[in-house]
Formats: sequence, structure tokens, C-alpha cells
Amino acid sequence: MSDAKKLFIKTYGCQMNVYDSERMAEAMGADGYTLTDVVEDADMVLLNTCHIREKASEKLFSDLGRLRPLKDARPDLKIGVAGCVAQAEGAEIQRRMPLVDIVVGPQAYHRLPALARATGPQVDTEFPAEDKFDHLPERRALRGPTAFLTVQEGCDKFCAFCVVPYTRGSEVSRPVDRILRETRDLVSRGVREVTLLGQNVNGYHGAGEGGAWTLGRLIRSLAQVEGLERVRYMTSHPNDMDDDLIAAHGDVPQLMPYLHLPVQSGSDRILKAMNRKHTRDDYFRVIDRIRAVRPDTLFSSDFIVGFPGETDADFADTLDLVRRVGYGQSYSFKYSARPGTPAAEKPPVEAAVADRRLQELQALILDQQRAGQEAMVGREVTVLYEKAGRQPGQMVGKSDHLHAVHVDDATGQVGELARVRVVASAANSLSAVRIS
Ligand code: SAH
Ligand code: SF4
Ligand code: F3S
Repeated sequence: MSDAKKLFIKTYGCQMNVYDSERMAEAMGADGYTLTDVVEDADMVLLNTCHIREKASEKLFSDLGRLRPLKDARPDLKIGVAGCVAQAEGAEIQRRMPLVDIVVGPQAYHRLPALARATGPQVDTEFPAEDKFDHLPERRALRGPTAFLTVQEGCDKFCAFCVVPYTRGSEVSRPVDRILRETRDLVSRGVREVTLLGQNVNGYHGAGEGGAWTLGRLIRSLAQVEGLERVRYMTSHPNDMDDDLIAAHGDVPQLMPYLHLPVQSGSDRILKAMNRKHTRDDYFRVIDRIRAVRPDTLFSSDFIVGFPGETDADFADTLDLVRRVGYGQSYSFKYSARPGTPAAEKPPVEAAVADRRLQELQALILDQQRAGQEAMVGREVTVLYEKAGRQPGQMVGKSDHLHAVHVDDATGQVGELARVRVVASAANSLSAVRIS
């Protein structure tokens, strides 16, 4: 019998790509491939790509350049490109980089095993009528007690800077019964926490009993699954935080007090130019309503600085918004013009100005993050252990508020929920001792 074939996957971009990579690994697993971390051992290399900013896209081409000697030495090595660059650039990738055997888009990857079996260059960037999830094998590749679960894909919002509506297509929600089935399956394999994923997850409207369900209703139903201790969701648009979802933050104990709610800018003028369809006051109102039902909720956001037309006054509004909200954590990016998006037509902000703004914003965000972590010292929190720590007698996991916590606990088990007391705060994590 010959050895199993080996698959090496590199994932770029967002959590949805992480989830998709797991599912592609499972699909190829059913075709006899096992995963390897050593690219030189691989029979197939799959790059699951991101198109969101120019740098993210360009990484693909530098990585492909690095694969060339491997492919020259072993022409039977299969090289596949999946994800959002595959969707955006399609067959163009093979023209630019003929070493690529397979190009497969995010909606077509259930066909990857067939594409890998075929000979000659293969491109599949369709949005097929069938649901890819119905054609994928059961979940196998779990990474401990936490799991991602895609419930919604695509986006109809068309923010002026963003490629997602083009690379992922229009909004589609998975049916409730499939999500419940996948969740029960995950829980039976030791998962205690699921993060529901979608490019616009709170716009979820999947088919369920009696019609389309909202995300709030789905979360209430998931909270009934025995053994599932924690639920999170990302990423949300401020306009889709409906009453029931906000109420769920107050009355579903499994729903964790942490919400990623990207605002992008604190300036109404720029929000309008970005086609965000909400004002800064709309955003404050959503935050206030969630804090009213769950006062300890921590928020995080994404910001873009240097959007075309952004002035110093606009940027000052962003800093002001950050100060008013007080984030647990946030991600900020320098605007990157993306081909085919409306904003790409507009004259850019001077690079040095955008760089300076990014530094200033990141310094403020970091200050808030550090102060928030410092404030946890002395408090009791619950941690879900994800793995053993690097030091002997130490476990590592996340708190309800998504802080990474290192706990002194010689007898802790992966998958356990432990009560701990925070004793110190470091750059990106907390240290704690177990109390029960
Ligand atoms: N709703 C999505 C957002 C994906 S993009 C989700 O599920 O995560 C993630 C973040 O990238 C956005 O919130 C935005 O802040 C940033 N981003 C998107 N397009 C960008 C661009 N053209 N330049 C810089 N940053 C961008
Ligand atoms: Fe992109 Fe805006 Fe959709 Fe988020 S809501 S994926 S930023 S278009
Ligand atoms: Fe990137 Fe596509 Fe995700 S562009 S952020 S991989 S949806």
C-alpha cells in the first residue's frame, strides 16, 4: 500500500478562511490526503488567500515565487490557490504564475478533490446553485475545545472600500437545522465554545421552523445544546444589531460579553463617503443598548485611516469615538485602494499623513487595551482551557472577555472551564492562579 498523500495548507486573511481551510482539509482527507506542516513533504500545496488589502494579495505571489524551486524539482507537485484572490483574479493567476495547477473560489471548494484528481490546469470560481456545505464530509479537523462555524457568507453592504461583496458574493445564510447538526457534532467531539462566523453574521436570516430565523433566535436555540458552554459571533454590522440580538446579550448566559463591531471611522462625513449607512450616533446608540443589558461587555472594532478625502478633523473624530467607546481591543488599517471598488477611483490621502494617523490611532488603541487588561488584575474570571502552557504546570485559555490567560494549574485539563484569579497583566495576556 502506498503512503497517504500529504497536503500543506497556508491560510491568509480572516477567520472564515480559517474555517474554509479546515473544511478543505476534510474534503481532501476523504480523498486520502493527510495534513503536513512541512511544505517539502507535500504532494499538494494549497494557498487559501485574502484580497482585502493590496499587501494581503501580493503575499500570494511572493509565496508562489518561493514554491517555484519545489515545483521545478517535482513537477507532479500540485499547487492550488483558493480563497478571495482566486475568486477575484481567477484564470489570470495561472497566466501570471503557470506553476499553479488549480484555482478554486470560496463557493466552489467542495469540488476541490475532483479538481485535484483532474490533469491539466483547473479553474472553478463559480457560485454554484448547490450548497457546498451539503457536499462536504463531516467535521474532523478540530483544534481543541473551541471551533469556528460559518453560518452566513457574503455581503450586500458594498462599503465603498471593500472587495468582500465581489469575492464572496451576496448574502446567503445556512439553514438552522444544518447549523444545529454541525454544532451537536462539534460538541460530541469535545467542543465547548463555538464562534459563529459570517462576513455580515448579524444579518443572518437562515431557514428554520416557521420561516427565516434571526441570529438572536439561532443563538437562543444553540444555547439549548447540552455541553455547549460558550457562543460568540463575528463580524457584525452596526445596522443589523436588531432588538432580539441585543436582548440575547442580556439574557443568554452562554453568549459571551464581547462583541466585535467594526465602525471604520468616527467621522460622519467619511462614514457617508464609505457608504457605511450609519452615523457615529447610530453606533453609540447600539453600544449603549448593549451595555444597558450587559454592562461588562467589551467591544472591539476595525478602523480604516486615510480613506480618500479624510481630513485632520475627520481623523480627530475617529480618535474621539475611540475615547468615548473605550475598546478592549481593535484592529486598524491604512486604507488600501482595491481594484473595482468605488473608493479606488478617488484621489488618495498622502501616504505619510495616513502613516502618521495610523500610528496615532494604534497608540491610543494600545493604551486602552493595556488599561483594560490592568483593570482585570485582582479579579476572578472564568477561563476555557485550550492547551497546556509552555511552562510546566500551566494552562492557557481565554476568558469570557476574550483575554488570553496563562493559569498556574498543575492538574488542569484541556476543555475545562476554570475559575481563576488574575494576578498580573503582560503585553498581550493575563496571568492567573486557579481558585476552583
Ligand atoms: N465584515 C467583514 C469585514 C472584512 S474586512 C468581516 O467579516 O470581517 C475586515 C476589515 O478590513 C474591515 O472591517 C476593514 O476595516 C478592513 N478593510 C476592508 N477593506 C479595506 C481596504 N480597502 N483598505 C484597508 N482596510 C480595509
Ligand atoms: Fe466589507 Fe462593508 Fe461588507 Fe464588511 S459590511 S464585508 S466592510 S462591504
Ligand atoms: Fe480576506 Fe476574503 Fe476574508 S478578502 S478578509 S479572506 S472574506
